[in-house]
Amino acid sequence: MTVRTLRSIPPQEAAVALSALRELRPQARHTASPDALHAFLTLTRPEGYRLAGVFEAGQAEAAAVAGYRVMHLLHAGRTLYVDDLVTRSQARGRGHAGALLAWLDAEARRLDCAELHLDSGVGPQRFAAHRLYLNAGLNITAHHFARALA
Ligand SMILES: CC(C)(COP(=O)(O)OP(=O)(O)OC[C@H]1O[C@@H](n2cnc3c(N)ncnc32)[C@H](O)[C@@H]1OP(=O)(O)O)[C@@H](O)C(=O)NCCC(=O)NCCS
Repeated sequence: MTVRTLRSIPPQEAAVALSALRELRPQARHTASPDALHAFLTLTRPEGYRLAGVFEAGQAEAAAVAGYRVMHLLHAGRTLYVDDLVTRSQARGRGHAGALLAWLDAEARRLDCAELHLDSGVGPQRFAAHRLYLNAGLNITAHHFARALA
């Protein structure tokens, strides 16, 4: 069994989340370097965005990372929204993402949220995530629409 700890990752420790977040968002300019990620965390702090991670024993870098925020929705009330969730490829299949979802669920309850929400893409690269979410008791409740404005 893999020994792990779960905890918040403060902005000054952003570098420990970078490898995982870069696997999820390789093209994002804010995953280009530790400074870029720190700048993103500073930019989004007023919006409530923050990181949490799973750490395997003896490892400084997070094996899995979630980015999340608390928001208020007319239809759902106070809600914990998960922007990002990823496990580094070499650490998958050890229960880290499942443990992180359980941590987020507990955090949402601690923060007095009524619901937990996330969006997930529909391609084959997200099928493992979809199994995870459905097994964790999340339901598919919406289609997400978007278009670029540039
Ligand atoms: C989706 C993702 C986050 C799952 O991370 P993970 O840490 O591997 O997830 P878990 O280990 O908790 O669960 C994965 C599988 O391993 C299984 N598992 C969990 N612990 C296990 C263990 N100790 N031994 C064997 N299998 C185990 C789970 O049952 C699950 O099985 P399934 O694939 O049949 O559903 C990961 O695949 C990932 O980062 N993918 C790319 C990014 C991505 O899609 N992110 C989601 C964006 S919406």
